[in-house]
Amino acid sequence: MYRIAVLISGRGSNLEAILQAVKSGYIGNAEVVVVLSNREDARGLRIAKGYGVEALYVPAYALSKEEYDSKMLSLLEERDVDLVVLAGFMRILSDAFVDHFKDRIVNIHPSLLPSFKGLHAQRQALEAGVRFSGATVHFVTEKLDEGPIIVQSVVPVLEGDSEESLSERILKTEHIIYPLAIKLICEGRVKIEDNRCRVDWKGLSEEFHAINPVP
Ligand code: GRF
Repeated sequence: MYRIAVLISGRGSNLEAILQAVKSGYIGNAEVVVVLSNREDARGLRIAKGYGVEALYVPAYALSKEEYDSKMLSLLEERDVDLVVLAGFMRILSDAFVDHFKDRIVNIHPSLLPSFKGLHAQRQALEAGVRFSGATVHFVTEKLDEGPIIVQSVVPVLEGDSEESLSERILKTEHIIYPLAIKLICEGRVKIEDNRCRVDWKGLSEEFHAINPVP
């Protein structure tokens, strides 16, 4: 049984998609054991409680990045967490934290990485005039928005799109690919080789192949 922790800062819509996927059995072999937020008013904390999951606000006030991360690390270790899922967590993790959970932290980013790293990825895509954007689930390394890619979704950028409309279109696919990526990990289908993910898609339906085509 995979013990998952989800780290959030706000809305928590990806968190909700993951909780729902675990509840329905889509992600089998896994349990969300704790949700941690660096913001007290994060809507995601209420969502977690609604699913009967432990939800903790971990204040960062007066702590250095290292002190904060070591506090988070203790909370996760106490709960014997196997996989750390970042879902809109607006802090950059220290190298020590990333190293401790090497290959066991995943993140979702609203662009087709390696394009448009960092903040306002959807705005960056609009400004660049790309025809397609999307979302990426990847393992976390010390470098921001880098690390082996697990799954991506492709979303068209339409004439007249605003940051909001594009974000909304991308977010709908985030709610599909994040549970999918976690399911793949929990089923032992993801291997990292030479900084790239090899995914075993055997037995999964065509729908998944459309999102992330198999060569
Ligand atoms: C999503 O757009 C995700 O890609 C980014 O932060 C946002 C979080 O949204 N990393 P939510 O809190 O899951 O609704």
